[in-house]
Formats: sequence, C-alpha cells, structure tokens
Amino acid sequence: MMPEPGYELELRREGRAVFYSPKIPERKDFAPTSLPVFFNPFSKPNRDITVLFLAAWFEGFKIRACDALAGVGVRSIRMLLETDVIREVTVNDVSPRACELIKLNMKMNKLEELAEVTCMDANKLLAECGMERPRYHYVDIDPAGSPAPFIENGVRGCRRGGVIGATATDMPALVGAKPQSCLRKYDAKPLRAPFSKEVALRILAGFIVRSAARLGIAAKPILSFSKDHYIRVFAVVERGKRLANEILGSIGWISYCPSCLAIRVAGRFDSPITICESCGGRMDYAGPAWVGELTSQDLVERIYQKALGSPELYQESLKLLDGLRREDHGLLGYHQVNYLAKIFGSSPAKPSMLVEKLRELGYRASTTHIDPSGVKTDAPIEALRSAFEELKIKS
Ligand SMILES: C[S@@+](CC[C@H](N)C(=O)[O-])C[C@H]1O[C@@H](n2cnc3c(N)ncnc32)[C@H](O)[C@@H]1O
Ligand SMILES: [Zn+2]
Repeated sequence: MMPEPGYELELRREGRAVFYSPKIPERKDFAPTSLPVFFNPFSKPNRDITVLFLAAWFEGFKIRACDALAGVGVRSIRMLLETDVIREVTVNDVSPRACELIKLNMKMNKLEELAEVTCMDANKLLAECGMERPRYHYVDIDPAGSPAPFIENGVRGCRRGGVIGATATDMPALVGAKPQSCLRKYDAKPLRAPFSKEVALRILAGFIVRSAARLGIAAKPILSFSKDHYIRVFAVVERGKRLANEILGSIGWISYCPSCLAIRVAGRFDSPITICESCGGRMDYAGPAWVGELTSQDLVERIYQKALGSPELYQESLKLLDGLRREDHGLLGYHQVNYLAKIFGSSPAKPSMLVEKLRELGYRASTTHIDPSGVKTDAPIEALRSAFEELKIKS
C-alpha cells in the first residue's frame, strides 16, 4: 500500500535502488527545490560517479560514510547496495519531511540496520565529529546551490585519509556571470573565458584546499568533473601543517589573454599576471584557484572499468567517464576549435584530429570532458595555427 505523507509520492528506480520520491511534474523545467522533499532525477550521473568512486577508492575496506544533505536518501541507498565498502552510513537532512521519507526508503530497501537517519543542520552534525561522534571516512556535501558553507565542517568531519565529495550548482557565480557572488562565497575571482567551467572546478577545488589548510589539514583533489548544471570535486584529506603548507603550493592565479589566447599561471605568493608576455595585451585572471591536477588518471581508469562492468546501472555516465579518462589532467585550460578557426580564418578542425596533429608536432594535447569542442594543449598559439594549416592541407 502507498504510504501517505500528505503529498503525492511516486515509486522510482535508479541504479539498484527502489525508492519513493515526491511526484515529479511532467514539465522538463520543474524546479526540484519546489518539491516537498528535494529530488532531481537528472543528477543520476552525480550519484553514479559517487558510488563508483567509493567502490574504486575504498576497495577492500569497510568505511563509515556521511550523506550530510541527503534529500530522499537515494545516494546512501545506492552506496549501500552498489558497493561492498560501506559499513554504515549517517543519512542526514535538516528537513523533517526528508528524514521521514529517508526512513521509509531505507526500510523498503531493508537497510535500516546500516543507516543512521539524523535530522540536523549539516554543519552542526559535522562539527560534532571528533567529539560526540567519530569522524567519517567519507563525507558527501550535495546542496542545492553552493557547498561553500559546509566545506570547513565537511573537512573536520573526515578522518585521516578520508575523502570529502562536494557538488556546486551555483554555476553563474563560478563561471564569471556573477563575480561578486563568487567572491562572497568562495573568496575568489572567477574568469569569463572559453574554459571558464574548468576554472569553476579549480575555484571549488581551491576553496576546499584553502578551507582545509586553515585547520592544518591537507586536502588534495583526486576526482573532479563538470556535468550539465553542476560541478563536483572529491578531495582526500590528510592531517598535518607541513602537508597543508605543501599543498598550498598548488594554489595560484590563472591568467588568460583574449587577444592571443595564452593561458598563464602564477603562484599564490606572486601577483596575478595581467600583461601578456606573448602579445603585450591585457590578461584577465581568476583565483586563488587550484592549479595542480584535478583528477588522478589512474583512479578515473579504475572507476571507468567498474562502470563498464555494470553498464546497465551506469549507462548515463559512461560517456562522461570515457571523456575524463581520455583527458590529460596535467594540462590547464583548453581552447574551443570553433573559436580557433574563427581567429585563424579557417574551417573548424575536429578536436580529436587537432589533438593528434599537436601530438605529432611534439606537444602535449588531449580532449576535455567539459566541452566536446575543447582541446587542451601546451602548444603556443603559433603551433596551433600551424596544426590548423596542416589539417587544412590534408583535407
Ligand atoms: C540537493 S538536495 C540533496 C540531494 C541528494 N544528495 C541526492 O543526491 O538526491 C539538498 C538537501 O539539503 C537539505 N538541506 C538544506 N540545508 C541543509 C542544512 N543546513 N543541513 C542539512 N540539510 C540541509 C535540503 O532539505 C535538501 O534535501
Ligand atoms: Zn596575448
């Protein structure tokens, strides 16, 4: 019999989970925040990759996880059903309605024994870690909007060697459409550039690293991606001031020259570069931001292999994971082929062909999961022009 919480429910399936969510209106543009309990079916890849990440990173271990902003609880249910690494999970939401639904969903999946459901402010719950409650191996921060208010306590809630995973959906702030909002929330300047979504990831990653460093904790990004309306960063947490100082060496400024497309990086102790050394033009900049690797190549390969093992569960995420594993994570920023074609007065090249050509010419190059028309490279603009010319001659 259908439970009656005072609003309409519908039964759903996602991954191995069967659960109730509030009835979702037919319109594609419905706002999940307007539902009695938040649920967004379009965030499945976010949950897929969280589950796959946990299965790959903690393989062989049994961990305690905290789903600090859980909504209907589907993420926790999937962690428990699709990995064998979770010993127990704290499933928390500040909304009593959400908590009621979480309890119902846990029961339906016969997981009540493994799930502690709490109805608290996430910051209060996480700040108690290390005192009233033990710290977690994994803390998930998945708010609607900015995760910034939860990051410091999220890091506090992680054990040594634990991981924090955080989603941001406030993309206008992070990609430079609302720079004041970015400054207020992340204490960072965003950048309007063709690769501003990558800069968004670097601002979020940098914010996690800087928030942790204040506590004498070193957080290192290990998996980061951008998809549809959100971005997500996972960072592993180690305690120690020396490590925290070291990791801050990968916080810096990112400058971009709209005239010659040069991308440059300066360290945190230096000033951001504002004059382009290649063409003398004015550079705009972003930061402080993470300028090291956002994703571990080896980890993403392991995650991809896990997803390939159960394509029926992770179909929607395979393309994204394939894009991530093909990417050269040692390169910062990317160029859009259409824009390059415009400034070279040429017809656009296929990103994969341009990558191949640049590699032939001795440069590092790859596609990016963020933008199907993007090419990452360490080649200067003249080399990009030659590569374009050579591709034109061939075609
Ligand atoms: C985006 S939804 C979570 C979606 C969920 N993680 C999923 O994968 O389906 C954000 C949730 O955070 C809850 N929330 C908002 N502010 C909170 C706070 N300060 N502490 C705990 N939960 C909060 C909301 O009630 C909402 O259910
Ligand atoms: Zn320039």
